Amino acid sequence: MERRDKMIRVLGIETSCDETAASVVALRDGEKPEILSSVVLSQIEEHAAFGGVVPEIAARAHVEALDGIIEAALADSGATLADVDAIAATAGPGLVGGLIVGLMTAKAIASAAGKPLLAINHLEGHALTARLTDGLDFPYLLLLVSGGHTQIVLVRGVGDYQRWATTIDDALGEAFDKTAKMLGLPYPGGPNVERVARDGDPSRFAFPRPMKGSAQPDFSFAGLKTAVRQAATAAAPLSDRDVADICASFQSAVSDALADRVARSLARFRGEFPGIAAPALIVAGGVAANRQIRAALKGQCARNGFRFIAPPLELCTDNAAMIAWAGIERIRAGLGGGDAFAFVPRSRWPLDEVSAPVVGSGRRGAKA
Ligand code: KG4
Ligand code: ZN
Repeated sequence: MERRDKMIRVLGIETSCDETAASVVALRDGEKPEILSSVVLSQIEEHAAFGGVVPEIAARAHVEALDGIIEAALADSGATLADVDAIAATAGPGLVGGLIVGLMTAKAIASAAGKPLLAINHLEGHALTARLTDGLDFPYLLLLVSGGHTQIVLVRGVGDYQRWATTIDDALGEAFDKTAKMLGLPYPGGPNVERVARDGDPSRFAFPRPMKGSAQPDFSFAGLKTAVRQAATAAAPLSDRDVADICASFQSAVSDALADRVARSLARFRGEFPGIAAPALIVAGGVAANRQIRAALKGQCARNGFRFIAPPLELCTDNAAMIAWAGIERIRAGLGGGDAFAFVPRSRWPLDEVSAPVVGSGRRGAKA
């Protein structure tokens, strides 16, 4: 790692939710980074019967799959463990059972192979992905919209993040999943709501646009979820048309509200970085797969003179390439040190430790 001309290869491990993933990413000085392998095993089938991720089932599935996934990632990359310069594992935030499986496995491999270990914040993986895919320069804005997170983060540098907005109640993916469940659509809800919404009338139900027009930059989706429940109850028994119309109306409300909320942070970025000619907003998280949401964000970016960058879908959703890449970024930035072997997984681990939890957070605290 000291020799500047040497290639850095990092093995990444990701187990924070319901994907078991491993990847090898390489960086040769002066060249573009290269994803040598990226293996992702989704547990969707294990959890589908329960309508959501069951933590105990997830942890057990990670235990069963992880060794094989790591072996496959190494084999696909053409590298052996001996060729790898460091091991980077997600250490939080997420479901603690899965985090323990991933981090303990990484500790065992790193100590057996005599390799440095990096404990990576999963959100940092999402935050730095645009540099892996697009070589984006700092600073830029990240909108992370997944099942567990809805936030806007200013990415100023490696390890230098400032959360500008977050949800004060549900995460957006969670709102999609709960809406799907109420309407009897299968898990995971997001893709099914989007599919059904295609045939629906988005103007039939006038759902609220939570916080639209508010000077506060945060997000809220709980009220929208309640409005969906009321509409579904009032229209019951639901025909296919009713379900499609509710989905279309919900998706429109969400797209509209999201675009409005994002505009606050775009304006703030403009004010704080007036010298940046072509600022960028990047999106990450499963919800970023939604076409109507992408279009709404793209339009809002265009109106505000921002570039809209959406990494390829397989790098928007959970994967280990982003964890390996965060490891490389940390090594390059001289932040690779610290005793990762003593690191205890953290179910809650905000990227920006300084930002206080928001008011009105849910029972389990803000979804930071
Ligand atoms: O990033 P992700 O794969 O996992 C984490 O939550 O970390 O995101 C999954 C979330 C789920 O809530 C799922 O319903 C949502 O992303 N999602 C979508 C779509 N595809 C996945 N939501 C809306 N539209 C989609 N097409
Ligand atoms: Zn994620």
